[in-house]
Amino acid sequence: MGTVVFKPLAISVLAAVFFLIGSFRASEASSDGGERQQVYIVYMGHQHEPSDTMAAGGFTAAEAAHHGLLNQVLNDGSVALDRIVYSYTRSMNGFAARLTERERQKLAAMEGVVSVFPSRTYRLQTTRSWDFLGFPETARRSLPTEAEVIVGMIDTGVWPASPSFSDEGFGPPPARWKGACHNFTCNNKIIGARAYRQGSTGLSPVDTEGHGTHTASTVAGRVVDSGGLAGLAAGSARGAVPGARLAVYKVCWEDDRCRGEDVLAAFDDAVADGVDLISFSIGGTLPVPYFEDPAAIGAFHAMTRGVLTSAAAGNSALKGGRVCNVAPWVLSVAASSTDRRLVGKLVLGNGKTIVGASINTFPKVEKAPVILPINGSWCLPESLAGQSYKGKILLCAGGSDGTGPLLAGAAGTVMFNGEPDVAFMMPLPALTVTQDQFTEIVAYVNKTRHPVGTIHSAETAFDPNAPVVASFSPRGPNLISPGILKPDLSAPGIDILAAWTPLSPVSGNGKDNGFPAHNIISGTSMACPHATGVAAYVKSFHHDWSPAMIMSALITTATPMDPSRSPGGGELAYGAGQLDPVRARDPGLVYDAREDDYVRMLCAEGYNSTQLRVVTGSDATACPAASGRRRGAAADLNYPTMAHHQASPGKNFSVRFPRTVTNVGAPGSVYVAKIVNSGPRYIRVAVAPRRLAFSSLLQKLSFTVTVSGALPAGNQFVSAAVVWSDGVRQVRSPIIVHTVDVSNTTN
Ligand SMILES: *[C@@H]1O[C@H](CO)[C@@H](O)[C@H](O)[C@H]1NC(C)=O
Ligand SMILES: *[C@@H]1O[C@H](CO)[C@@H](O)[C@H](O)[C@H]1NC(C)=O
Ligand SMILES: *[C@@H]1O[C@H](CO)[C@@H](O)[C@H](O)[C@H]1NC(C)=O
Ligand SMILES: *[C@@H]1O[C@H](CO)[C@@H](O)[C@H](O)[C@H]1NC(C)=O
Ligand SMILES: *[C@@H]1O[C@H](CO)[C@@H](O)[C@H](O)[C@H]1NC(C)=O
Repeated sequence: MGTVVFKPLAISVLAAVFFLIGSFRASEASSDGGERQQVYIVYMGHQHEPSDTMAAGGFTAAEAAHHGLLNQVLNDGSVALDRIVYSYTRSMNGFAARLTERERQKLAAMEGVVSVFPSRTYRLQTTRSWDFLGFPETARRSLPTEAEVIVGMIDTGVWPASPSFSDEGFGPPPARWKGACHNFTCNNKIIGARAYRQGSTGLSPVDTEGHGTHTASTVAGRVVDSGGLAGLAAGSARGAVPGARLAVYKVCWEDDRCRGEDVLAAFDDAVADGVDLISFSIGGTLPVPYFEDPAAIGAFHAMTRGVLTSAAAGNSALKGGRVCNVAPWVLSVAASSTDRRLVGKLVLGNGKTIVGASINTFPKVEKAPVILPINGSWCLPESLAGQSYKGKILLCAGGSDGTGPLLAGAAGTVMFNGEPDVAFMMPLPALTVTQDQFTEIVAYVNKTRHPVGTIHSAETAFDPNAPVVASFSPRGPNLISPGILKPDLSAPGIDILAAWTPLSPVSGNGKDNGFPAHNIISGTSMACPHATGVAAYVKSFHHDWSPAMIMSALITTATPMDPSRSPGGGELAYGAGQLDPVRARDPGLVYDAREDDYVRMLCAEGYNSTQLRVVTGSDATACPAASGRRRGAAADLNYPTMAHHQASPGKNFSVRFPRTVTNVGAPGSVYVAKIVNSGPRYIRVAVAPRRLAFSSLLQKLSFTVTVSGALPAGNQFVSAAVVWSDGVRQVRSPIIVHTVDVSNTTN
């Protein structure tokens, strides 16, 4: 069985090294009675038992039911209590337990069990961004209702003493809040904090890593004059909704990363505690089927209670992965650049200046010898050992976090690591360059007797090309449901400044003694909280909107991006485009979907009524008979984008996307459809009707988009868009038809 690995989705050069040398952790297994046990999640769908009904022995009725079920399959003398890691009883039904393969099979065949799957390890690897998105500090706000919004952060915990989380001027938590603060002192800003580690829930939720503090402050941090990172990128740091509340669920730890059973426990609590939104900057390299994915399961039950989950789309673009967190009830967020780049200059002895990405706050390194390492160019500590590189600038063509060059005594390093758009924090003067720039430097070194270079400290530069999708941001298609476009949209995720924990050094290797209050990091982990924050902003104006309505508002108002600047994907890389906070507040029309709609879509994807009744907890749930007229398709889901996977190039196809929009703009308004078909005209798009006249708010009107044509062989995808406009608002839905191979499964 392949182990899919989950991790917080910030990127670090260290994680890149791990990935490149392919050190996958084998899943944990212990031996008991000769048979291997491992942690499995037993998913049992909807929770019928109110969590306060007590059974005998100090267990709730739901816990007792889990013990009873598990005891039926144990025959080695052990009892359920020895094996259960968690019982999920508050917002969904299921448990995690140590099981053998034989026990797993028996449980999977039992009534009421939807799926039994191995728990996975998700591996670790100035907010100029808001101004770039046109969302100034002075944007219109609804302060009383913003204070009612509670955002759940499933992450590495939080550093509570950061000024970003001061509760000065905050009233008590909303009365409906049912959360708790375990081994943590909350205030009126951080109103909940819990931690989960392989079944243990008493540990401290304090952030020792930095990731969770960074994401939480991007969502809801107060305005703080940050001073940047050692003066670089100075300015104020702030979250999208400084007035909102935070509840923190720590599931990622330094050594064992983020475990699936802990993630599901966090979702179970967060939803029952009463969060309004969940931010999930964690993921794997490839997506897994919905009911084997703790985040998709947790987010499904969150959705049924009106809670939207916003998730990072993954960092796997250059590493053979695909977009993750792809369930249609989850907002999947790609990462792109802002117009502020952090750059560092290398000036070669021949006068040539190379500009790379850099967070180098060290003084200038003047005219040092430039050298390729003798033993390969990987610059790992082992490969540099035994040689003296004292005072030299090392050229490193492989992932390196700078530790190797630092230990070898180098004065600085120039790196090519496949992510030239990202500035990395290094423990010595450094910059990251493109492959072409690296080759140019090597050529200079090759043909020069005494090659020298000067490394300048980093500075900020204006990038007129932004937004461009990040090198690491994953490309679609969606391998689980190729007919649903993922990622949904893109948000800033490169060189993001936000709060940090003093318990973690900024360069991640502890050698530079740098522990500032803010840090600059990159990843779809950083893009996700921008989208979560904007979802919270929208929620503060429209408290009664469903998760799908909020998602739709963000997606249909996103700014289209330039496909020529984001090679390898177009919409498959950035979805509908770049997040636009101010327009998202007033989208005009929204595409709503509720639990029943997702269930119909799951029927179309091959899940059967028996399973889905357990998931929903309703005997009324039924899939249309397979032999009946039309079984349905993913295209029928009322999704704000439209995607079609055409497996066979050259063949004619025609696909219908029935859609219904809800008027949330002006009561009496008339919308007219425009079709944007920018690429080669391989497809035809028709909309009927092309005019929608609304007479009241929340009125729903339907239309159908028909897309037909044929894609020539070799063409990976084409895109178009339908834009509804009332003259003021633009409600844009990208359409994508692709032939990309989706047979690439996870195991
Ligand atoms: C609180 O957390 C710390 C650090 O994780 C742990 O050592 C301690 O035992 C915890 N305290 C309780 C009461 O569980
Ligand atoms: C060369 O590098 C590898 C690891 O990258 C290391 O195992 C080996 O010992 C190094 N050889 C020498 C001669 O330093
Ligand atoms: C530099 O020299 C090395 C070793 O002679 C050679 O393998 C490499 O191709 C050269 N690179 C360039 C860019 O000239
Ligand atoms: C429904 O799916 C489950 C799991 O794949 C399978 O065990 C069951 O036999 C299916 N039921 C029907 C009626 O097809
Ligand atoms: C595909 O559609 C085109 C345009 O409508 C038509 O000319 C062609 O004959 C069709 N090809 C097939 C194989 O049906």
